[in-house]
Amino acid sequence: MVVDTIERVAVLGAGSMGHGIAEVAALGGYDVTLRDVEADLVRDGYEQIEWSLGKLEEKGALDESAEAVLDRVDTATELDAAVHDADLVIEAAPENMELKREIFGDLDEFAPADAILATNTSSLSITEISEATDRPGQVVGTHFFNPPVKMDLVEVVYGDHTDDATAEAAAAFAEACDKTPIFVRKDVNGFVVNNVLVPFMEEAAWMLSADETTIRETDAAMVFRGGYPMGPFELADFTGIDIGYHARKEAGREVPPVWEEKVEAGHYGKKSGKGYYDHEDGDGVDYE
Ligand code: 3HC
Repeated sequence: MVVDTIERVAVLGAGSMGHGIAEVAALGGYDVTLRDVEADLVRDGYEQIEWSLGKLEEKGALDESAEAVLDRVDTATELDAAVHDADLVIEAAPENMELKREIFGDLDEFAPADAILATNTSSLSITEISEATDRPGQVVGTHFFNPPVKMDLVEVVYGDHTDDATAEAAAAFAEACDKTPIFVRKDVNGFVVNNVLVPFMEEAAWMLSADETTIRETDAAMVFRGGYPMGPFELADFTGIDIGYHARKEAGREVPPVWEEKVEAGHYGKKSGKGYYDHEDGDGVDYE
C-alpha cells in the first residue's frame, strides 16, 4: 500500500533534471530534499534553483517570495538522510540501468515501506528498475521535461508491476505541482514523447553527418519557419546529445556518426560547455 498523502519529497540527483524537479516540487508546496553523492554537486543544483526562483520572482511569476519557496528545499549527500521520511522519492540519476537498480535496491532499506518510488528515466525500462526492489508495485516512471519548471508535461509511466494507486498518486502529485500528467500504460522504450522527439534531433544529425545541411540553417529553418521553440541541434545541446545517443543504443539502433563523435569527445551540449554549439561564452546559439 502506498501513502495517502505526499508531504515530503526526496529527489536523488542534482543535475539539470534533478534540481529542476526539486524546484517544481517546492513550488508545489512540498518539503523537498535534494540529494547527490558529492557536496559540490548538491550545491551547484541548489544554486540553480536559487537562480531560477530569482528569475521567476523578478518576472512576478511567484505567489510567494523566492526565499519562502527555497526554505522548503533541504540538501543531503547521504541516501538515508534524504529518503528516511520521504513519501515520494524521485530518482534523477544518470541513465545507467546498473546504477538505477543499485539505488532502488538501497531504497528498500532506507525509504519508508509505503513510499512511492519514482524514476525520471527517459528511456530505461521501469519494469527492470522496479524488479530491483521488493515492492515493484510502488515503482513508477515520472518523466519530466527539460527545463522542468517551464515544461508543462509529465509522463507517468507504468512498469509491468506498477499498481494503479501508485500511478494515480504520482499523477496527483504532478497536478499539485501545476503540471499536466499523461499516463503511458506500456513500458515502451522512449515512452511517448521521446519516441516522437528523438527522431527530430536524430534525422537532423543524419543529415549533418551526410553533409546535407548545416547546424545553423537547420535550426533557423525550424525556429523561424517551422514555429518550433528550438531547432533540433539547439534542442539536442539543451537536453544532452548523450541522452538521445543512449536512448537509441538502448533500443539497439544505429546512431548518426556525428552523435558518436560528439559523445566520444565528451561534447554533450550545454552541460559540458560544448556540443553542436560552443556554450562556454553565454548561450552559444545565435541565428544571425
Ligand atoms: N527558470 C527560470 N527562468 C528561466 C529558466 C528556468 N529554468 N530558463 C530560462 N529562463 C528565463 C531566461 O533566463 C529568460 O530570462 P530573461 O528574460 O531575463 O533573459 C526567460 O526565462 C525567457 O527565456 P527564453 O528566452 O530562453 O525563452 P522561453 O521562456 O520563451 O522558452 C524554453 C524557454 C521553455 C526552454 C523554450 O525554448 C522551449 O520550450 N524549448 C524546447 C524545450 C523542450 O522541448 N524540452 C523538452 C526536451 S525533451 C526532454 O527533456 C526529455 C528528456 O528525456 C530528453
